[in-house]
Parts: sequence; C-alpha cells; structure tokens
Amino acid sequence: MRRECRRDPATNVVVAAALFFVACAALLVEEACGGEEPVTELSNGFTATHSADAPGRFEPFLYATNGVFALGFFRVGASSLDLAVVHLPSSFPLWRATPLRLADWSRPATLSFDGRLVLATGPGAGTVLWSTLNPIGDSVKLLNSSELVIRLFDERGTPWRSFHSPSDTLVLDQNFTLSTPPLISENRRFALRLGKTYMALHMEFYGGRTRPMYWQHTALMAQPENGTEPPVYGRLDGRGFFGLYLQGGSGNESVDRIAFDTFPRNLTGAFRRMTLDDDGNLRAYYWTDGSKDWTSDYQAISEQCELPTSCGAYGLCVPGQAACQCLVNSTTVGTTSPPCAAVETTDLCGAGQKFDVVRRSRVSLAYKERVPFETYETVAECEESCAEDCTCWGALYNGASGYCYLIGFPVETVVYEADDRKVGYFKVRKARQSAARARTMSSGATAATVVLSLVLAVAGAYVGYWLWERRRRRRAGGVGMEQELTPRPYRDLKSMDSSNNSFKS
Ligand SMILES: *[C@@H]1O[C@H](CO)[C@@H](O)[C@H](O)[C@H]1NC(C)=O
Ligand SMILES: *[C@@H]1O[C@H](CO)[C@@H](O)[C@H](O)[C@H]1NC(C)=O
Ligand SMILES: *[C@@H]1O[C@H](CO)[C@@H](O)[C@H](O)[C@H]1NC(C)=O
Ligand SMILES: *[C@@H]1O[C@H](CO)[C@@H](O)[C@H](O)[C@H]1NC(C)=O
Ligand SMILES: *[C@@H]1O[C@H](CO)[C@@H](O)[C@H](O)[C@H]1NC(C)=O
Ligand SMILES: *[C@@H]1O[C@H](CO)[C@@H](O)[C@H](O)[C@H]1NC(C)=O
Repeated sequence: MRRECRRDPATNVVVAAALFFVACAALLVEEACGGEEPVTELSNGFTATHSADAPGRFEPFLYATNGVFALGFFRVGASSLDLAVVHLPSSFPLWRATPLRLADWSRPATLSFDGRLVLATGPGAGTVLWSTLNPIGDSVKLLNSSELVIRLFDERGTPWRSFHSPSDTLVLDQNFTLSTPPLISENRRFALRLGKTYMALHMEFYGGRTRPMYWQHTALMAQPENGTEPPVYGRLDGRGFFGLYLQGGSGNESVDRIAFDTFPRNLTGAFRRMTLDDDGNLRAYYWTDGSKDWTSDYQAISEQCELPTSCGAYGLCVPGQAACQCLVNSTTVGTTSPPCAAVETTDLCGAGQKFDVVRRSRVSLAYKERVPFETYETVAECEESCAEDCTCWGALYNGASGYCYLIGFPVETVVYEADDRKVGYFKVRKARQSAARARTMSSGATAATVVLSLVLAVAGAYVGYWLWERRRRRRAGGVGMEQELTPRPYRDLKSMDSSNNSFKS
C-alpha cells in the first residue's frame, strides 16, 4: 500500500512543511489522501512500516494535536533507524527510543502497538529492537507537551510515559527526578545525573562502569546534612530557568533556580529544551514562532578548555587561544595537532598490557577538584603510585602543594597552565606487536572458519526460505505478508481522538 501512496507527488514534499500529505504517506492508506486530519491517537493493532528505500530523514505516523510534534521513524547518522518524537519546525528529536542496537535505515522495520509499543526489524519483523515494558495500555497519544503516553481506557491511568525515560533532552515541565534514568548524550559519552541535593555531569567510560564527574551544581537552599529532607528534582520552567524542588513539596517553592540569559526578559510562549550535547556541555535552548534555529540561553560550562574532551583523547587545550595541541613529552620538539589518539575502551589491566609514558609540565585538569588525590613529597612518588596501578592512566602533580591527582580513567583533554611546578605523567597504550597478534589469531583461525561457515550456511538457508515463502504468499493472495503488517484503516483510528468514545467498539 505504501507503494501506491508514494506515486503521489505530494509524498515528496518536505516533512515539516506538509504535515497532512506526509501523514497520508506514513499511514499508507489511500483514503487518507482524500482530505482527513493527521492521526493523533493509535489504538491496539496499529502497525506502521518503514520501507527500505524511504526518502527523507523522518517518517511520522502520530501527531500531537497542536501539530508541533510527531512520532515516527527517524534516521540517525547516515544509515541507522530509531523511533523518535520530533519537534517538527526544527526537525530536532526531543525523545528517542535508543535501543541498544539501532535498526538499519536501509532495511524494512515496523512499529506496532499491541498494548506495548514494539520496534522490530528483520524477516517477518522477528527481531525486536525496542519495546515498552509491562504494564500494557489501550491507546497511544502524543501530548501537546511532546510527551508520548500509553493510556488505559476511560482515563484509568497512564502506564507508560516518555518523560520517565528521557534520551539526551528535557523539555518544558518534564520532571527530572532521582528515579529518572540519566540524560545520556547522543554519542553516549556523557551523562547528567541527579544526586540527593545536586545535579552532575559525568564522562562515561568502559560502557558506563567508570564515570568521573566533571561538573556539579548543588541546590543552593537544600541541606545535604539534613537526613530527613527529601531529595531534589529538576524542571525546566517556561519563564526561563531550571528549577530544583524538594520532592513531595508543592512544586512551587524551589530550593534553587538556574536562571537563563532570557530570564530577565520575560520571554513567555517560547518552547524550551535542555540538552546534554555531544561535547559534554549541558545547554538550554528556546524556539519562538517563526524561529529559523534554536537559540541557546544557558550553558553549564562556559570555557571551551573546561569541557572534558574539548581537544579529544591526549589533547592539550590552551585557554584563550582556542587552540588544541597533543599531549607529548615536554622535550619533544615541534607541535602536533589533534586528533591525537583514539578513545580507549578498556583499562591497562590483564596480561600483556604494555604502555609508554609521556611526561609534560605546565598541565592541569579542568575538573581536578573532582578527581581523587594523594599527597607526596616528590613527583617520583606520585608517578610511582600511578605506575603500579593498572586502572590508573595518569597522574598530575602539583609541586607547590604536593597534591597528586590520579586519573582512574582513559586520558582525555588536559589544560595548559603556565606553572612549571604542575607536571603530568600519562600512560599511552603500546601498539600491540603485529607478529604476536598474528600468532594468537592463527591458533583460533581454523575453528573460527568452521563456525563462520556454519553460520553462513544457516543464514543462507533462512533467507532462501524467507524469499520462497514471500513469493508463495504473493502468488497465493496478492497481498500476503503485507496484509499482516498493514495498519488498521485510518477510518477506525480517527474516531478515537476524544478520550471517551468508541474505545470499546
Ligand atoms: C493541544 O493544542 C491544540 C492546538 O493548540 C488545542 O486545540 C488542544 O486543545 C490542546 N490539547 C490539550 C489537551 O491541551
Ligand atoms: C530537615 O528537613 C525537613 C524536611 O524538609 C525539615 O522539616 C526539618 O526541619 C529539617 N531539619 C533541620 C535540622 O533543618
Ligand atoms: C511534575 O511534578 C509536579 C510536582 O510533583 C507535578 O505536579 C507535575 O504533574 C509533574 N509533571 C509531569 C509532567 O509529570
Ligand atoms: C504557586 O504559586 C502561584 C503564584 O506564584 C500561586 O498562585 C499558587 O497558589 C501557588 N500554589 C501552591 C500550591 O502553593
Ligand atoms: C513580566 O510579565 C509579567 C506578567 O506576565 C508582568 O507583570 C511583568 O511586569 C513583566 N516584567 C517585565 C520586566 O516585562
Ligand atoms: C617520554 O619521555 C620519557 C622519559 O621521560 C621516555 O621514557 C618516553 O619513552 C618518552 N615517550 C615518548 C612517547 O616519546
């Protein structure tokens, strides 16, 4: 059915500019092209399909009644597919399902609702990539706030809401609480977490097992030492601030407000978001009617060199120069420029892990106050304590104070500081010897070949069967498999817009 709709030239129109036509294309139902409104509610049995050769970057199938937000298949990067709630005027994804394994945009995928929302791909939509967990509900709606909700009939509750599982962005009035999962940047390298009385930014290493903090904001009027005081939660306010409140309170009296640049301007009516960007900075943005782009009116970290990875792994950031160098021995002549090294994904523990050493003076860490330290009389002792520990990647010694800051995670950007007493010791993984690697590989090569052949044979047989089955069905019924994946006709869906009628029919 999609194919018939696509012949209509209207489907080539840019998504945001033509909600109605795109709704028609996304629904795959021809009757919808005849002048009906976009879908604002999904009921049990709904299925939307993404075809392998879909043009564009976003294929919406559910709209908020204000027409500003839509849920659909969203292309990530060059070739991945995710499910996203998109702010249509800007095409920005405010929420994403973010399965552990993203689907491939160049392969078919389906989103179905059967009490749960399920994103699946592969032959017969057999591979489930993401789904909402129990409990299940009766209908899906996208609210004017951009929140995606699964509801029960007769307003008996909302068993699932997207505001409880944010991706990298918070929007207006979305509560960020201690039980909300952390905000994770799109590149998955940074996280925003809430503590009892503070919020903090972390780098994520080794799949999140090691997460050093690089920024923290403690609620001004919360009392960390008061054991009976409830924890704080945060909320983006339309008046232009991020408020921190005590849980269980009225939601009116904040224990802190982080005011944005627009706060004094009384800028009401703007849509706002707060996003943990891929550079590790937390920023607030707003969008007003007729905007061409988002405007940022707040950032947690204002100095480029204070961002933890501003110059990448083994980078050296020089404040005031907007320049990056690479971390090399002080005695090395000439400068090198980034990228300096790839990000490390494992530590230096385990047999055969070798490293070289780089020593550099006049270096510091922007967030050294958040890194554990020991006190030593000499730089040699400081270096030694790191050298002996295979989880330690470097040490920064302050010759004036004797503080020795130990870096228990892969070395990222360090900051230049014009003080000869501040010296750094950094481990650099030694490139594995190719001869040794070849030897270990050859021992397992035979077994690997056998296993691979078996896997390929099984996969081939499966694909063959699938192709045969598909052809058989086409011959038999004309529609065959497609029928199973076909959404319920649009006529059945549209009458469910208002909450109380016809749900039980
Ligand atoms: C959502 O916005 C639309 C258009 O602005 C409005 O008609 C509708 O009443 C709003 N819905 C709710 C639940 O506020
Ligand atoms: C601790 O917090 C609770 C709840 O906010 C408050 O009622 C109590 O007075 C506080 N105690 C002290 C010693 O501040
Ligand atoms: C956020 O929390 C406040 C206070 O607890 C509550 O009144 C409000 O409904 C919550 N907002 C959402 C979207 O859940
Ligand atoms: C919250 O504050 C507003 C004005 O700032 C006030 O009108 C309202 O009554 C307050 N609500 C509660 C529950 O205190
Ligand atoms: C901000 O708006 C409020 C009401 O919306 C108004 O009372 C106040 O005077 C405004 N302040 C400024 C500085 O414009
Ligand atoms: C840096 O200098 C140290 C001696 O201080 C030396 O052992 C090390 O091999 C040098 N590293 C590189 C990468 O040149």
